[in-house]
Amino acid sequence: MIIVTGGAGFIGSNFIRQWLATEQDGVVNLDKLTYAGNLQSLADVSGNPRYRFVQGDIGDRELVDRLLAEVKPHAIVNFAAESHVDRSIHGAAEFIETNVVGTFRLIESVRGYWSGLNETDKAAFRFLHVSTDEVYGSLDFDAPAFTETHTYAPNSPYSASKAASDHLVRAAHHTHGLPTLTTNCSNNYGPYHFPEKLIPLMISNAVAGKGLPVYGDGKNVRDWLYVTDHCTAIRTVLSKGRIGETYNIGGRNERNNLDVVHTLCDLLDELSPRADGQSYRTQITYVKDRPGHDRRYAIDATKLENELGWRAEENFESGIRKTVEWYLANGAWVAAAASGEYRHWVEKQYGKAVA
Ligand code: NAD
Ligand code: TYD
Repeated sequence: MIIVTGGAGFIGSNFIRQWLATEQDGVVNLDKLTYAGNLQSLADVSGNPRYRFVQGDIGDRELVDRLLAEVKPHAIVNFAAESHVDRSIHGAAEFIETNVVGTFRLIESVRGYWSGLNETDKAAFRFLHVSTDEVYGSLDFDAPAFTETHTYAPNSPYSASKAASDHLVRAAHHTHGLPTLTTNCSNNYGPYHFPEKLIPLMISNAVAGKGLPVYGDGKNVRDWLYVTDHCTAIRTVLSKGRIGETYNIGGRNERNNLDVVHTLCDLLDELSPRADGQSYRTQITYVKDRPGHDRRYAIDATKLENELGWRAEENFESGIRKTVEWYLANGAWVAAAASGEYRHWVEKQYGKAVA
C-alpha cells in the first residue's frame, strides 16, 4: 500500500485515479476535506477494493501514527496543502498550519514509523513531497527557466509556506536519513480543478455569461502542465528518483494569462458558441492586480527528463482542448463544486465584478 495525502484535491484525485489504473498497489487517501477536498472527484474509484478513504489532518499525530502502523505503507505521497495564492493573501494562518506545521508533524510521524522498519523495508521506503515552482520566486521575461539549484525566493504567503515545508523535508533527509524525494512542479490544469483557479474559473464564468476577470495587464506568465503529466512524473520520481534529490516538473508551455484566456474563449466559441453569436472574448474584464503578483514562472525539467526519462505527453494545445471538453461534459461536477464555499469566496474576492 501507499498513502496519498490530500487525495481529494485537484492533483491528488487525478493521481489516485492514474495510480489505480497503472500500478498494482492499493492507495489510502488521507484528506481533511477542506473547501478544496471533493470526494466527487473520486466517485468512479470509490468502490475499488484497492482504494480506501480516511478523513483526517496530516497534522494529527495520533491518527497518522495509527494509520501508518495499520497500513504499513512503503511510500507516502504528500499532496495535502492549502494551495491558492489568493486565499493566502486574504489570510495565511491555515497555510502555516497545514503546509508548515502539518508537514512537520507528518514528517515526525513518518520518521517514527520508518525507524521501526526492518532494514529491507527501511531502504525501500520513500516519502515524496509534492511542491511548486513558486518557491523559486519570480523570473524576468528573458531569464532562463528555474533549475533545481535556483535560489529559493518565495513571494506569497502560499509559496513561503511551501518553501518552509520543502526545507523541513530536506532537513529530515540530511539530519535523520529519511528517504525523501521532492518535486517542484509548474502550474497544473485539467479535469477536477477547483473552479476558483484561472482556467476552470474562466470556463465556468464564460458559459455562465459572467465576466472573465484578468488581473492587472494579463501579461503574467505561467508554465502550464496537464495534470496527468504531473502524475506520471510523480510516479516516475517515486520509482526511479535518487533519494534526497529534488526534481523540477514542467512541460515547457509558457503562456501569459491573456493568451490563456483568449485560447479558452476561442475553444468555447468553437465547442459551445454563445446564442447571440458573439465571442466569449467580449466577456473579458480587467480587474485590480493581485498584490505581489509574480511576473513569470518557468520550469527547466532537464534533470527529470535526462536522469529518469520522463516526458510530458500533452502540449498546451492538446491539453487545453481536452480540459475545455471535460468541463463542458461535466457540468454536474462543476455545479456541485461551485455550490459550496466557492460561491462565498467568489463574492468576497470579486464582489460584483463577475456577477
Ligand atoms: P488542492 O487545493 O486542490 O487540494 C488540496 C487537498 O489537500 C484537498 O483535498 C484538501 O482537503 C487537502 N488538505 C488540505 N489541508 C489538509 C490537511 N491539513 N490534512 C489533510 N488534507 C488536507 O491542491 P492541488 O492543486 O491538488 O495541489 C496539491 C499539491 O500540489 C499541493 O501541495 C500544491 O502545493 C502542489 N502543487 C500544485 C500545483 C497546481 O498548479 N495546482 C502546482 C505545483 C504544485
Ligand atoms: P492561479 O490559477 O491562481 O495560479 P497561481 O497564482 O498559483 O499561478 O492563477 C494563475 C494566473 O492567473 C496568475 O498569474 C493569476 C491569474 N489570475 C487572473 O488573472 N484572474 C483570476 O481570476 C485568477 C484566479 C487568476
